[in-house]
Amino acid sequence: MTLAVPPHILAIPPYVPGKPIEELERERGITGSVKLASNENPLGPSPRALAALAASLETLHRYPDSTGYRLTRKIARRLGLAPEQVVLGNGSDEILALLARAFLQPGDEVLLPAPAFAIYEIEARASGAVPVPVPLRDFRTDLEAMAGRVGARTRIVFLNSPHNPTGHRIGREALAGFLARLPAEVIAVVDEAYIEFVRDPGEADPRPLLEGPRPVVVLRTFSKAYGLAGLRVGYGLMPAGLAAVLHRVRPPFNVNRAAQVAAEAALDDEAFLAESRRVVHEGIDFLREGLERLGLFCLPSEANFLMFALPGEARPVYEGLLARGVIVRPLASYGYPRHLRVSVGRPEENRRFLDALRAVLGR
Ligand SMILES: Cc1ncc(COP(=O)(O)O)c(C=O)c1O
Repeated sequence: MTLAVPPHILAIPPYVPGKPIEELERERGITGSVKLASNENPLGPSPRALAALAASLETLHRYPDSTGYRLTRKIARRLGLAPEQVVLGNGSDEILALLARAFLQPGDEVLLPAPAFAIYEIEARASGAVPVPVPLRDFRTDLEAMAGRVGARTRIVFLNSPHNPTGHRIGREALAGFLARLPAEVIAVVDEAYIEFVRDPGEADPRPLLEGPRPVVVLRTFSKAYGLAGLRVGYGLMPAGLAAVLHRVRPPFNVNRAAQVAAEAALDDEAFLAESRRVVHEGIDFLREGLERLGLFCLPSEANFLMFALPGEARPVYEGLLARGVIVRPLASYGYPRHLRVSVGRPEENRRFLDALRAVLGR
């Protein structure tokens, strides 16, 4: 079969997900492995979400509410925004796809930090746009360099805070200063998938970013702090006019019924959110201490993962950990062949990772 695949599609780098536990165990004939590779919630799903989900199963023959009426209102109320400012997605990934579909045309430029979450580049290329990577400086988003790269063809600027994989957060003040410098027609997307883990709650208020007249989209997700990655539900916060454009290209039933019900219950599960934050904060401190005791340098992280440096190539260490049933994330595809990223797990998983790493490094 010969298919004429458009060159901009062939230019898309394939997304490399974290290795699933099932795959590792199938390949090696082992059991009891731990996955610390995809920044998932170590506690599992919110119990209130699970209960709501179970109670809702009998209505699965019905299509979901296309407008996500209850969930958008609940999110908006929590954040002090209008419901018209909330767009739900099949994961926050989908909001990125909707933005690209609605706003990018072939030849448009999209600025992104390099490295960054791979979907920014994938969605830009899928629309025929040109990704313009702006290298991090000292493992931090270089806002000055990004502002300097904005040109007449720039349509979207992607920022990620806290940043995956470095864990670095851009302070609200620096962010506001950067946004104020953007031309009025450039859309700024601030991906805050990990914002619930930031220790200063004042830094999680999206309103200062959305108050101005400019087109800013703040991305949030239920995949991390709320433990619902498998259900796929996230959202974008933005001016109502921009949301109305996204609704034009949004598949009508993009967020399934189970996801809407579970997300609504998860938002009410404040005890679970508090426990997730506590486990992640303690886990980050424990992992950092353990890694430093092994003589390894860790980047400061405000998310639920840590990026750390190895003395040489990270690949053999990654493989050695796999052989011991521990999955972490290699960062060669992010341009860091000597680093690994580890997600915070439960305390026993964190200990298992450190023990395995110590063995692999022969320390
Ligand atoms: C920076 C960043 N943005 C977005 C996402 C995707 O989140 P979702 O599960 O809501 O699509 C991730 C997931 O790993 C991420 O790291």
